[in-house]
Amino acid sequence: MLRIVDGWKSYGDLQVLKGVSFEVGEQEVKVIFGPSGSGKSTLLRCINMLDPLDKGEVHLREQNLMAPGINLNAIRARIGMVFQHFNLFAHLKAIDNVSIGLRQVKKLPKEEARAKALEMLNRVKMAEWVDHYPAQLSGGQQQRVGIARALSMEPDVILFDEPTSALDPELIGEVLQVMLDIAKSGTTMIVVTHEMGFARAVASEMLFLDNGVIVERGTPQHFFVSPKSERVKQFLKQLDILYGSHKELLKRSNEEESK
Ligand SMILES: Nc1ncnc2c1ncn2[C@@H]1O[C@H](COP(=O)(O)OP(=O)(O)O)[C@@H](O)[C@H]1O
Ligand SMILES: [Mg+2]
Repeated sequence: MLRIVDGWKSYGDLQVLKGVSFEVGEQEVKVIFGPSGSGKSTLLRCINMLDPLDKGEVHLREQNLMAPGINLNAIRARIGMVFQHFNLFAHLKAIDNVSIGLRQVKKLPKEEARAKALEMLNRVKMAEWVDHYPAQLSGGQQQRVGIARALSMEPDVILFDEPTSALDPELIGEVLQVMLDIAKSGTTMIVVTHEMGFARAVASEMLFLDNGVIVERGTPQHFFVSPKSERVKQFLKQLDILYGSHKELLKRSNEEESK
């Protein structure tokens, strides 16, 4: 469905991505994790062509996105994006934040766009808040509007860039729940996150990105039970300190394995 082949990207002298390759199948959820500055956001921006690769290939359903003369707006409508800082329009109500893309990109008539936006806000459990402005919503609610906006375009794949890392701890759960729901309903997703519980629940594969290279890849079970590289082990230990969830996951994984 989506494939990136030997992707390279630099900013000036800084080589950020160094030959990244992976693929995402239909209805698959990939989780990308790794240290700050390792190139995770850059990778997502290269995939949705906001900031194309210097070298390499990106294919979406057998269409080469790096081909000259390709219609980038049409491509971006097929690749949804959910941002760390929500990126909602401050001057628009929740409903209009969702319907604006439907009107401007999908060219839906006003009433149809509104109906579709309502349906999507309902899906992320925001039906009661449609007439609120972003400043009147909590971070978790704003992010759910962001997810509704991405879903509304019916993209082939949705990219999530650390969607819960700007949220207060008590608001993370409601956003992860919505993400779990849409993952289980068959949405193809690439999720940059350090929420290991989410990864464990729905990721078919996890990719550990360090310094622009995928150092290790495997199932959640692989990472939580027998990660190979020292770098990954170290990083997971740090997450354990930050999130306190790794040990619990490890315990559960071991219990399942011994069944
Ligand atoms: N537009 C840009 N211009 C210059 N440097 C950038 C730009 N975007 C990212 N970088 C640099 O690239 C590296 C990787 O950044 P990023 O992809 O944001 O990492 P991550 O999301 O894993 O934290 C960092 O050193 C960052 O400073
Ligand atoms: Mg980032």
